[in-house]
Amino acid sequence: MPDSFVQNRVPAAATTQCVEVIEVSKIYHGGTQNAVEAVSSVNFSVPHGQFVAILGPSGCGKSTLLMMVGGLEAVTTGRIEVDGSPMAGPRTSIGIMFQDSTLLPWKSALDNVLFPIKVLKRPVQEYHDNAHALLDRVGLYGFAQKKPHELSGGMRQRVSICRALVYEPNVLLMDEPFSALDAITRDEMNGLLLDLWQQYTKTALFVTHSIREAVMLADRVLVMTQRPATIVEDLTIPFARPREMSIGESREFNEICGHLRERIEHSHFEGRR
Ligand SMILES: Nc1ncnc2c1ncn2[C@@H]1O[C@H](COP(=O)(O)OP(=O)(O)OP(=O)(O)O)[C@@H](O)[C@H]1O
Ligand SMILES: [Mg+2]
Repeated sequence: MPDSFVQNRVPAAATTQCVEVIEVSKIYHGGTQNAVEAVSSVNFSVPHGQFVAILGPSGCGKSTLLMMVGGLEAVTTGRIEVDGSPMAGPRTSIGIMFQDSTLLPWKSALDNVLFPIKVLKRPVQEYHDNAHALLDRVGLYGFAQKKPHELSGGMRQRVSICRALVYEPNVLLMDEPFSALDAITRDEMNGLLLDLWQQYTKTALFVTHSIREAVMLADRVLVMTQRPATIVEDLTIPFARPREMSIGESREFNEICGHLRERIEHSHFEGRR
């Protein structure tokens, strides 16, 4: 295992919370006529190893929040800490997955997985075994040399998961990673993500529009209001792990989904007050 893997790992005991978002607001183009307040005074903490899903109306500020946690957008006010230190830019202890697979079309699946290592100017060969093991793990054995256009949408998102995990981040941020996939592939990917998360126990923040996906995957669901986004509900999901996809047919599961649906409908008005 490369030394960097060890350096990136912060022991769970070092700090009780993995992600802390403290009074965070974001105004795009502040002080101009085009100012947009995307996020307003958001507070939440995520303990190590917890899987948190974020639900909210379209355009409310979910991606903005995730990008700030990932160090890809600066906060306007407030503070974000990951593993006990303030975020000031992108970090290798955080892996990010977007809605589109954002793979480089001219590179093979393997080279796409290894691309962050190259960007970070780490010794690529040290990560070859890990990249191959991840591709095998997500069912892409034999596809390492294929280019993105030779893969299906689901396969491309599998490559993206591998790319987000290749340097063994502590935190995995996912912004609607499966929303472009058909329902069956999406269920498959949810099952795969649950397996991977259980195996690697990352801290995860997962933005989705799907209430069922949120309840299926997460330990906890945050519901955000219409823009500027604030949190109106922080719900613990009571299902034990490992979870089978069949919990989706249970009465309790459907009651929780019904409650969240109502909360999201109300949140459209709460943000406008
Ligand atoms: N780079 C940017 N510059 C200016 N405004 C932006 C920028 N990015 C996002 N916004 C604005 O901030 C608000 C929140 O956008 P964001 O993408 O965070 O919402 P979202 O909840 O992720 O939406 P969706 O569910 O549709 O993905 C929107 O009004 C959007 O127009
Ligand atoms: Mg978004």
